This record gives sequence, structure tokens and C-alpha cells, in this order.
Amino acid sequence: MRRLARAIPGGMALGRWLRRHFDPALREIHRLQTGEPGLLQPFPDTLEERYPELFDAIAARLAELPSPRILSFGCSSGAEVRALKRRIPTARIVGLDLNRRVIARARAADPDGDYRIAAAPSAGEQFDAILAMAVLRHGQLESERPQNCAAIMPFARFDDALAALDSALAPGGWLAIGNAHFRLADAALTARYEPDPAEFPQLSHPNLLYGPDDRRIELPGRIAVLHRKLD
Ligand SMILES: C[S@@+](CC[C@H](N)C(=O)[O-])C[C@H]1O[C@@H](n2cnc3c(N)ncnc32)[C@H](O)[C@@H]1O
Repeated sequence: MRRLARAIPGGMALGRWLRRHFDPALREIHRLQTGEPGLLQPFPDTLEERYPELFDAIAARLAELPSPRILSFGCSSGAEVRALKRRIPTARIVGLDLNRRVIARARAADPDGDYRIAAAPSAGEQFDAILAMAVLRHGQLESERPQNCAAIMPFARFDDALAALDSALAPGGWLAIGNAHFRLADAALTARYEPDPAEFPQLSHPNLLYGPDDRRIELPGRIAVLHRKLD
């Protein structure tokens, strides 16, 4: 089919349109890409128990709190929320995602969970830990690896998203950023955070990063994944 589509003028574009038209998952992604200016990673891929060492580390750091408040930003179908619930059954966990289909799946898998179709928590809501995993990135940056990210996802969008997350994180709280194309060390609010030295096998050594001028940066030996917000 692909070979046929390539042979016909406009065939590839028509093929994309047909797929989008008939595949509800692609249709939802297209709706977000054309209607949500704050959209980050548009693709909702996730896995059960995707970052077990990180989830364990967060549970250990929150162990003193009887009922910690946790935000899973870009939760997709909720695997991350469920992994955290297994480790901290008393936690109050909110899962946020702009994609209506994945939130419906999360709710179906976990009817007691707090899953919301949103890009930000409610005004004034505060959390003891926020996870932004595989959301401060873009699949097209990964596949095309351009020298400059501005046309696909500018650094400013990462900085804006971080500012919103920062306002929802309680002083002393934990911010996890992983599987990202940007790092907290380059963000405007980095001075408000202390990097945690813990290393995580799949997360501490990214293979593609962009800096505040939108250009690719030389890869550092390792980056911090967990960060503590200073009091
Ligand atoms: C790759 S999934 C990440 C799932 C999970 N956190 C993980 O690491 O496995 C990225 C999700 O982020 C969501 N997303 C992108 N931009 C968002 C935004 N501004 N607010 C809320 N969710 C967003 C997408 O809809 C998508 O479901």
C-alpha cells in the first residue's frame, strides 16, 4: 500500500488523512496537535512498571508522609499512577492528560482513581511529588534529531510547562523529569531545586537534549532525574 501511495501524486498525504479519519486514536492525537498550543509529547505510549527504580525511589522519599499527594503529569492510560499506588497505597494520586481516550482507559482500569482531562491541576492544588515522565519531549525530535528544536517543540514550551508544575509543587517536594529532551538544569527556575544524586538505568543518560537557545547540546555524562524543591 505504501509503495502504491508513493507512486501516486498526493498519495502519501491521502493515506495519512485516511488513517487519521478511520483510526480514533490518531484522530484524537490530531485534535490535540491542531487545538492545544501547550501540547508537549503528543504520543501516549506507556508501559506497565516502566520505571520501577524511580517509583521505588519516590516511595522511599515520601515514606514519612502518611498520605502523600502525587501528580502524574501526562499520565496516559494510568500505568504510572497504578505503579505508584501499589507502592504507596495511602497516596492521593492525580493523573492528568489532555488525551480524552487515554483518560477513559485509565478510568476504566482504575475506577476509584482521580484521572482528569487537563493540562494543569486545579488552582491552588499542591503536591508532594510530581512526575513528568516521557512528556517533556517530542517523538518527532527523536525520529528526526534536528539541530534546532524550535519548529517541533521550542525550549520555551518546556520552560512554561515547568513553571506551571513548579507552582503546584509544595516546598520540599520532589520533581521527577525523565525521558525528556530538555533538562531542569537549563530551565529558568533551576536555582529553586537541588538535584538528587540517585541514578536510574534508563533515565540518567539521555541520547538527545536541547538547550535554552533551542539548539542541540553536547550530551553530559549523566543528568539528574529527581529534584528536590528547596524550602
Ligand atoms: C508518552 S506519554 C507518557 C506516559 C507516562 N508518563 C510514561 O512515562 O509512560 C505522554 C502523554 O503526555 C500527554 N501530554 C502532552 N502534553 C500534555 C499537556 N500539556 N498536559 C497534559 N498531558 C499532556 C500526552 O497526551 C500523552 O498521553
